[in-house]
Order: sequence, then structure tokens, then C-alpha cells
Amino acid sequence: EKGGYDHFMLKEINEQPRAIRDTLTGRISEEGDQVIFDEIEWPAGFAEQIDRIHIVACGTSWHAGMVGKQAIERLTRIQVDCEVASEYRYRDPIVTENTLMVVITQSGETADTMAALREAKAKGVRVLAITNVVGSSAAREADDVIFTWAGPEISVASTKAYTTQLIALYLFAGWLAQERKTPFASELPSILSGLKQLPELASHALQTAPAIEKFAKNWADKNHAFFIGRGMDYAVSLEGSLKLKEISYMHAEAYAAGELKHGTLALIVEDIPVIAVVTQEQLYEKTLSNIKEVKARDAFVLAVAFDGDEEIAKSVDQVISIPRVNPFLAPVIAVIPLQLLAYYASVVRGNDVDNPRNLAKSVTVE
Ligand code: M6R
Repeated sequence: EKGGYDHFMLKEINEQPRAIRDTLTGRISEEGDQVIFDEIEWPAGFAEQIDRIHIVACGTSWHAGMVGKQAIERLTRIQVDCEVASEYRYRDPIVTENTLMVVITQSGETADTMAALREAKAKGVRVLAITNVVGSSAAREADDVIFTWAGPEISVASTKAYTTQLIALYLFAGWLAQERKTPFASELPSILSGLKQLPELASHALQTAPAIEKFAKNWADKNHAFFIGRGMDYAVSLEGSLKLKEISYMHAEAYAAGELKHGTLALIVEDIPVIAVVTQEQLYEKTLSNIKEVKARDAFVLAVAFDGDEEIAKSVDQVISIPRVNPFLAPVIAVIPLQLLAYYASVVRGNDVDNPRNLAKSVTVE
């Protein structure tokens, strides 16, 4: 049932090209210029009316939301808040009839996410759920549902659910821009063609596995790591850091690279591992200067950067190269080596990869 892999997690990481393809299937017009979401049945005028979106989720799904926020804001210029459900549900959030709530939940059963959904519905807010499980509570109770077609995810550490949530969010951002006829809708054909390339690019990114396994063997005795990035790279860093903590039990923190100097640099000392994600063109120089800051303190820097990025290669200790992709879509590809890093660190440390301590696959209690 593990399809020849040692663990479900590794099987699921490797299933991502297929899962991404399935989540795209039927949702892009033949001409490649329109998003098709027949499953969304909004009242007439609602798409134009929305002035605020609340994305609510937990854990990895929340991290997908952090990318989704940036994608939706960029293509629609609607203000998007992205919050963990355990906070959202208790703070009496300000909503109006023009608010849309988007809940993201692989299982569709997470207690805090469901409570937030119910809270919003009770206030008359329209709720869209992005979920992987047909017939789940979220799928039944939301007004509209976008299914991710990741297939069953067994490993407690979420991998293919995350990347397919990203696909659903990119498609939704594009669809909303199209429905609202925003000027950014003109970018749609190029974004959609970029999305269609992702299954193949994800396959390329999976080929980083041997290098990462080798790296993990020399590295897994460390007890602390930092992940840094800016913009979408920061969102990916959050996910890489969570994955590492969850299954390797190494302590890790993700930092918006520009925040380092506001306290954290005190912890950047010789040999401390810093994993830098560098895919965002417009933030490139800024992240590079943060990398130089940590190098000046003799940190060990592993960068996840695009193929052929010489500048990064000469500034860090080791590079994991990922295939070039539109930076807007880069999180889908950049997260793959980070998933593999967490996986191999966990294996080297002899942990129970698929069933990490203290965690459940579906958190149905508060
Ligand atoms: O089923 P959900 O997406 O609602 O689950 C949310 C989190 O419990 C989940 O993503 C958790 O963070 C994962 N174990 C992380 O790998």
C-alpha cells in the first residue's frame, strides 16, 4: 500500500505531480485563457461586491492560505486576511455581507476550522471551503466547495494536500479576477500556462532527493534551524519549518528575512543552519543581503534557488536548485525540497515518520 516507498510521506511527496495535474484537470478552458469553476454558485453580483476575504485554517493549510492571500490580493486587489482558526473563532471578527470566508482544510474535520466556519455562517457570511475530502463536514456545511484532488493523505505530515491547496488557491485567485474583470485578468493566460507546467516541474524538483538525503545525513545531529525568505518565500519558509519540527523534532523557526535584525540575529552563530528560500525576483537583492548578514556570522546557509543562479551559489554553503518557474507560482515547487529535507532528517534520526509523536492526522478536538 506504500507503493514501494518506505513511508507514506515519501509516497505522497512523490505523488505531487499527479495530484497537481488532477487538481487542475477540467478547470482551465481549452483555449487556456479562462478558469472554470462550475462548482461555485454565487448569487448574481456577489463576485463584484466582495470587499474583504477572510482565509481561515490551521497548520499547513494556514500556510497555504498565506500564499493564497498574496495571490488573491495581487490579482484582485481585494484585501485578504489570513488567520489561524483557533484565533479567528474567538475574536468576534468584523464581517459584513460583502465578506467572503475561505476555509482551507485537508480533512474537512478540523475542530477549530469548523467552529470558525460555523461562526461565520451564523453571521451570514458566505463560506467557500477548499478541502480534500468529499463528504467531509467542511464540504457539507460550506456554501461552495473547491475540492483538491490529492487523493487520500495518510502521513500525518501534510505534503500533497498543501501543494494542491496552492493550486486551488491560484485557480480561485485567477477566477475571481476574471469574474471581476480586473486589469490583472490579462495576466491569466500566462499564469494558467505556468500552472499547466507545474506537474512536470514538480517531477524535476523531486530529483533533488538524493542530494537532500546526503545533506540530511551530515546535518541531522543539529538541534536548531532557521528558515528565511520574503513574500511568498516567507510563506514557504513557514511550511518548511513546520514540516521539519513535526517529524524530525528539530527546533526550527521561520523568519521573514527582513525581521532577522529585530532580535533573531542574536541567535545566528557559527554553524547554525539557515535555510534560505530565494525565488521572488522583486525581493532578490533584499534576501541576498540578508543571506550575507547571516554568512557574516558564519551560519551554514543552504539555499533553495533557481537553476543557474550563480549569485546565490557563490554566496551560500550549499544550493538546492529547483527548475525555473514564474515566481508567482514558485511556492509549489520550492516547498518540495523542504518536504524532502524534513523527511530525510526524520529518517536519519530514526523517528516514526508517518506517525510523529503527539500529533493526529485530523485534529477533531479543540
Ligand atoms: O485537515 P486540516 O487541513 O484542517 O489540518 C490542519 C492541520 O492540523 C494540519 O495541516 C497539520 O498542521 C499537519 N499535520 C502539518 O503537516
